[in-house]
Amino acid sequence: MNPAKGELEESVRRRFARLATDPAGEKDFAVGPRSALSLGYDPGEIGLLPAVVAESFAGVGCPFLLGDIDPGLAVVDIGCGSGVDSLLAAGRVGPRGAVLGLDMTGEMVGNARSGAESLSLAHARFIVGHADRMEIETAFADIALSNGVINLCVDKARVLAEIARIVKPGGRLFLADIFLEAESAAEGLSEIGQWSD
Ligand SMILES: C[S@@+](CC[C@H](N)C(=O)[O-])C[C@H]1O[C@@H](n2cnc3c(N)ncnc32)[C@H](O)[C@@H]1O
Repeated sequence: MNPAKGELEESVRRRFARLATDPAGEKDFAVGPRSALSLGYDPGEIGLLPAVVAESFAGVGCPFLLGDIDPGLAVVDIGCGSGVDSLLAAGRVGPRGAVLGLDMTGEMVGNARSGAESLSLAHARFIVGHADRMEIETAFADIALSNGVINLCVDKARVLAEIARIVKPGGRLFLADIFLEAESAAEGLSEIGQWSD
């Protein structure tokens, strides 16, 4: 890994460690249950999530609006954060299915694990890891989910290649993310950016 990449990743990791441990301190971006509701999540589902999960939600869309997730499927949530999407997916796949959430921020993974435990969702597991080098077997997933993560990854091509590797042939990617418009690219590209300050 080149030093600039390591520095950027560490900067992003620190940013989300802060959000995981002090969500009320987030002033720049919409986070938490109110943000989830504004993005189209089901209020009933969000209301059932433990506070430690819902409060540090930082997604940018609602991947569940993209299609159904059937019982028995295997889902990987890349950059799972505090586990909102992972736990909602775990409810859909049921105990015959499996959900694996991966995130490089240990504090976020801690929130997700504690949420899975309090909801007794033993088929939802969480690992600390990097999206561009996932320690997940090839063709593991029927569905890859990712919400607000790839924009933060330094090597986006490598992340997409990893997603293609871990998803079964014919599997699906439910992606919500943010993109720079061409005309907004000049300003700020040389800076690390607000999500990672
Ligand atoms: C905007 S948050 C979204 C979290 C979650 N998907 C949600 O909807 O609440 C981005 C998450 O991606 C994680 N992340 C960023 N870059 C990553 C990378 N290269 N590998 C793994 N996780 C990463 C961060 O730690 C953070 O938890």
